[in-house]
Amino acid sequence: MSSQIIPVEPFDYVVFGGSGDLAERKLLPALYHRQVEGQFSEPTRIIGASRSALSHEEYRKFAEAALKEHLKKGEYDEAEVKKFCARLFYVPVDAKTDAGWDQLKKILDEGKERVRAFYLAVAPGIFGDISQKIHDHKLITKQTRIVVEKPIGRDLASALQLNDSIGRVFKEEQIFRIDHYLGKETVQNLMALRFANALYEPLWNANHIDHVQITVAESVGLEGRAGYYDTAGALRDMVQNHILQLLCLTAMEIPSSMDSEAVRDEKLKVLRALKPIDASNVEQATVRGQYRAGASAGGPVKGYLDELEGGVSNTETFVAIKAEIGNWRWAGVPFYIRTGKRLAGRVSEIVITFKPIPHNIFDQAAGRIVANQLIIRLQPDEGVKQSLMIKDPGPGGMRLRNVSLDMSFASAFNVRNPDAYERLLMDVVRSNQTLFMRRDEVEAAWEWVDPMLKGWEATSQPVQGYTAGTWGPSQAIALIERDGRTWHDDI
Ligand code: BG6
Repeated sequence: MSSQIIPVEPFDYVVFGGSGDLAERKLLPALYHRQVEGQFSEPTRIIGASRSALSHEEYRKFAEAALKEHLKKGEYDEAEVKKFCARLFYVPVDAKTDAGWDQLKKILDEGKERVRAFYLAVAPGIFGDISQKIHDHKLITKQTRIVVEKPIGRDLASALQLNDSIGRVFKEEQIFRIDHYLGKETVQNLMALRFANALYEPLWNANHIDHVQITVAESVGLEGRAGYYDTAGALRDMVQNHILQLLCLTAMEIPSSMDSEAVRDEKLKVLRALKPIDASNVEQATVRGQYRAGASAGGPVKGYLDELEGGVSNTETFVAIKAEIGNWRWAGVPFYIRTGKRLAGRVSEIVITFKPIPHNIFDQAAGRIVANQLIIRLQPDEGVKQSLMIKDPGPGGMRLRNVSLDMSFASAFNVRNPDAYERLLMDVVRSNQTLFMRRDEVEAAWEWVDPMLKGWEATSQPVQGYTAGTWGPSQAIALIERDGRTWHDDI
């Protein structure tokens, strides 16, 4: 089965940080795929911009090398790469001075009518400066949008400042705050599953759901990002954005349409209904962890502190949280969250555990009746599983067995699984903000996270050590087992 590709309008994408890591690993490969699949209309250009002094030709070489390194086997096609490179340009610009901006204007003026997207793949500290320069050099047309990457702040106060600095120049409908988790296929499928099927909605509430688990486990460590990560930690890096977005999509009311405002209004209500976790309950509701030396991905790995230059840090590389949503739909249904680096595997999934049957009519020999679970697997092996009790086949009497209706997307649809950025980059061109975070969402997420951070500080909540290559500290197991539940481990 192949998906239908609808070409987008011609566009100019200006990538600030165009020679940086994100452009190299994600943005250029994603744009290349969209070209190969026929989504571009001509003329379409991609313009790298950063402080490095590169020529157009040198940038094309950089892109060619990036594609060689980051495309999967068989995806690099000489003719397509040549065509792709022909649409690449480069301008050295400085966010703090006027150097290079006239040249950028000259290039952009050749395509005044096209969609114009500025992608800020740079440190958030210069979002405001770049926005201002874009404004001062009169680069904003009717068809202009700006895309910003996380982290949007490190607390509510800095997020407000950042949002203000972009908002001074751009209107909210021009601002696309990327959370790449929203571009993942299965995340979008969560909405399809909930809102395009009559089956689940009547059960999607506290009457029928016992609890929800959201796990985003990574086997990687710092990947050379110690400078950033040590000032952030798992709560800021993963929970404030990606995991809260997953929680919102799981818990939100049904929007009246897929219109971006309708969807985002409902997500916002979930964020605002999250029960506070602060100094008074942070120790019961959260566990902080930090990995020690161990083994991961088949070899020995260093501990977190050994990867840092200073060797001293209280930053959490793992966090588990028992979150609760104070509204009618979810009253009394815990949402257990866990995420961490250097865990036993790379797994992201949402597990919905339904309530047990109210009365068992089978005798003991039938075996234990396990509560139904719906497992939405984001990565790897994207797909959805619904566990059900059935009769064990054969003449041996009524024995029950827990089996899964298993829908693995890779085997069900013979299509390449696109990277999250592919969908999102094209949504910017289409001006569809449904899968982007609105300003009030980002701020509401910080409003929930800030008291937790302050609570950790006030209570001096320690980080619990865990061996790299395990599922985190034992305290995280205790967090859920205290409630008579266990982490889903069929992974
Ligand atoms: C990023 C975080 O936002 O998401 C990283 O900053 C993390 O620390 C990454 O590794 C995970 O993304 P994915 O798509 O690999 O699950």
